[in-house]
Amino acid sequence: MSSSATAGIRTYKNYVNGEWVASASGQTFPVYDPSTEEVIAEVAAAGAADVDLAVKAARAAFDSGPWATTTAQDRGRVLFKLAEKIRQNSPQLAEIECRNTGKPIVEAEYDIADVATCFEYYGGLATKVLGSVNPVPANALSFTLREPVGVAGQIIPWNYPLLMAAWKLAPALAAGCTCVLKPAEQTPLTALEFANCFGEVGLPPGVVNILNGPGETAGAALVAHPGVDKIAFTGSAAVGKIIVKSAADTLKRVTLELGGKSPNIFFTDADWEASIDGALFGVFINQGEVCSAGSRILVEKKIYSKFVEAMTEKAKRIKLGAPLERDTKMGPLVSKEQYDRVSSYLELGKKEAKVAIGGGRPKQFGKGYYVEPTIFYDVDNTARIAREEIFGPVASVIPFDGEADAIRIANDTPYGLAAAVWTRDIYKAFRVVKSLRAGIVWVNHMQPTYVEAPWGGYKQSGFGRELGPWGLEEYLETKQVFVNLDETPIGWY
Ligand code: NAI
Ligand code: MG
Repeated sequence: MSSSATAGIRTYKNYVNGEWVASASGQTFPVYDPSTEEVIAEVAAAGAADVDLAVKAARAAFDSGPWATTTAQDRGRVLFKLAEKIRQNSPQLAEIECRNTGKPIVEAEYDIADVATCFEYYGGLATKVLGSVNPVPANALSFTLREPVGVAGQIIPWNYPLLMAAWKLAPALAAGCTCVLKPAEQTPLTALEFANCFGEVGLPPGVVNILNGPGETAGAALVAHPGVDKIAFTGSAAVGKIIVKSAADTLKRVTLELGGKSPNIFFTDADWEASIDGALFGVFINQGEVCSAGSRILVEKKIYSKFVEAMTEKAKRIKLGAPLERDTKMGPLVSKEQYDRVSSYLELGKKEAKVAIGGGRPKQFGKGYYVEPTIFYDVDNTARIAREEIFGPVASVIPFDGEADAIRIANDTPYGLAAAVWTRDIYKAFRVVKSLRAGIVWVNHMQPTYVEAPWGGYKQSGFGRELGPWGLEEYLETKQVFVNLDETPIGWY
């Protein structure tokens, strides 16, 4: 078992080489329920020595363990079994995810279902990795082999804990890599519970290792370790920059998914009710703790005032509550740190723009890191609340005047993760789609995410793609093989 209960608080270790191990330093850190502010678990804090052990285990598993010679079929079967375990344990996993992140239970259930689907998708894809035969002259044969990139260091955030683990682990395992996963220190619990089934489903020791602990120590040591071939990271742009610099010393491959300030664009001719819903859903789902949050709501001038009014009216109906209650639509933010960060943006927003609704802490909660769904309007796109990722339930509504103005404002951001456009005019819709500098563009919706389609950003939202065949590609090397078919000597000397 990963955990044992002491006085209601579960304790967890690191998962290294198929075993649960305490950190070399003996240090642990607390994990909280953000709705009660109570400690729910105590988790081993990995340091550089633990990272070294985990990387060595992953290295050995990659270089000479049974995983090194598994067939694609075998790896696919392991992934299907992982999916089955997730489905069997989904009520417990959803509950832990809900308690640890503060997200509504209904959303946590969707997340866990998506986790299983992700493992199934890559289970199927494992056997569809193809090389190529290259058209070289007739006296030779040239082909390519696709090989796993090696040991993958995977650093993930706290907003979708087990889903982010799945987006990283599933393609890596399908490719034949081995992994050292570091969950966010706020939310390690579901990944650790998941590890309980690794032995049972036939993952050899060392193939997936899980280390807990802060980014600045455990994460940084993983990025610097010469035994790691690739780093896959999801999190803040600030940390993305640190990772690129550190990874340069060992020239690791790096993929980054860094969030954004995504525009959600509404034209006058869009379906009215769907638009109001879509504007709110785009920015308030998961308490706004979403990398692709539609946090800049761009509204055509002709409908602007009515739009802000209608959004405000409907936002009053968003039910904040205890995460485990089924009718809760918004829970607390994940941590005190995130609550403080978002609160400081609320104060800033009151200076930079007008408040339509929200702007503080909801009165009904004595405890918990709750923030009111907040809509700022008359926001100038140069304001800090329009430029910086807030990662909370905070919308900035910005008016625009016609298509060209909408595109200009939408693209005037250092980020480029996602965007959405709402209109009934297909000419306009696709002109805007082509003009937006973003890796994901929705038309008449915002946020649906499918494992079959690529996920990732332009500009400072990072590089590389997750999901679909693109996600697998990031864990593969390409080896070209030249075969001489001409037996006569070269005759050069
Ligand atoms: P963060 O970027 O610090 O944390 C994300 C992950 O990176 C965690 O696992 C953390 O332990 C690790 N990490 C932190 N510093 C590291 C380092 N020096 N080396 C290696 N790994 C490191 O995010 P944080 O501080 O929790 O949130 C700050 C802001 O980041 C949020 O307000 C939000 O704007 C953004 N963010 C974006 C996410 C996204 O999905 N794109 C997810 C989480 C946060
Ligand atoms: Mg941080």
